[in-house]
Amino acid sequence: MAFIEVSNMKKSYGSLDVLKQISFDVNKNDVVAVIGPSGSGKSTMLRSLVHLEEVNGGSIRVADDYLVKDGVYSRPQEIKQITLRMGMVFQHFNLFPHLTVKENLELAPRLLKKESAAEIKNRSTDLLAKVGLLDRANAYPANLSGGQKQRVAIARALMMNPEIMLFDEPTSALDPELTGEVLQVMKHLAQEHMTMIVVTHEMGFAKEVANRVMFMDNGEIIESGHPTELFNNPQFDRTKAFLNRQ
Ligand SMILES: Nc1ncnc2c1ncn2[C@@H]1O[C@H](COP(=O)(O)OP(=O)(O)OP(=O)(O)O)[C@@H](O)[C@H]1O
Ligand SMILES: [Mg+2]
Repeated sequence: MAFIEVSNMKKSYGSLDVLKQISFDVNKNDVVAVIGPSGSGKSTMLRSLVHLEEVNGGSIRVADDYLVKDGVYSRPQEIKQITLRMGMVFQHFNLFPHLTVKENLELAPRLLKKESAAEIKNRSTDLLAKVGLLDRANAYPANLSGGQKQRVAIARALMMNPEIMLFDEPTSALDPELTGEVLQVMKHLAQEHMTMIVVTHEMGFAKEVANRVMFMDNGEIIESGHPTELFNNPQFDRTKAFLNRQ
């Protein structure tokens, strides 16, 4: 059984159909790269999975539980449990500016009150080491580079022990020389078999790290396949046209 199953997911803003009944599966250990032109619905798709947007129809199943089934949402407590299984990283980091790096990592687990302060602290230390920022634990976000901020954001999402990580253009706000360090952290996560959905313009990353590429255009999934297939032998004119522009 797929870990995430999306079927006929539909989202509109007024008369604008942003997601037109899209369906896809994500298996455990998949790294799915989502590509497509601006406005094609990539962010809306990702945000819907973590309930930052409410869809207008269709189903989203995560493991054994439905976030929404045939357009009907589960109860708030169930929704919370489901979304806690997913970590999200945004283009603009969304760190809390008034908290240090370490406090950014520890806030959500502390609020959840399921672990001791010592357990939380141990994990934040481990994760900061993992993203290469242990020496910046007491810094404030304003004093970090963009690449460092994004690595903090990744570590913060990992603090909740997510089973899947969702990335929405994690390197698009970065100067080119800073994208590599963030992609490297993501590549390591993939090598550790983290399940990931990555909306990205980084075709090199998609080719190298993803096991599936999904091309979206105008609210639809036009095609999806292994990176070598999709990049070397796209089946649809819209995919060819998009790839030629990259
Ligand atoms: N809150 C909103 N209200 C109205 N329209 C919206 C809203 N959010 C997104 N849209 C519209 O939905 C469509 C899809 O937007 P979305 O942000 O999902 O695209 P995207 O593929 O992520 O684009 P980009 O590559 O620029 O990030 C766009 O036409 C956008 O203008
Ligand atoms: Mg977007």
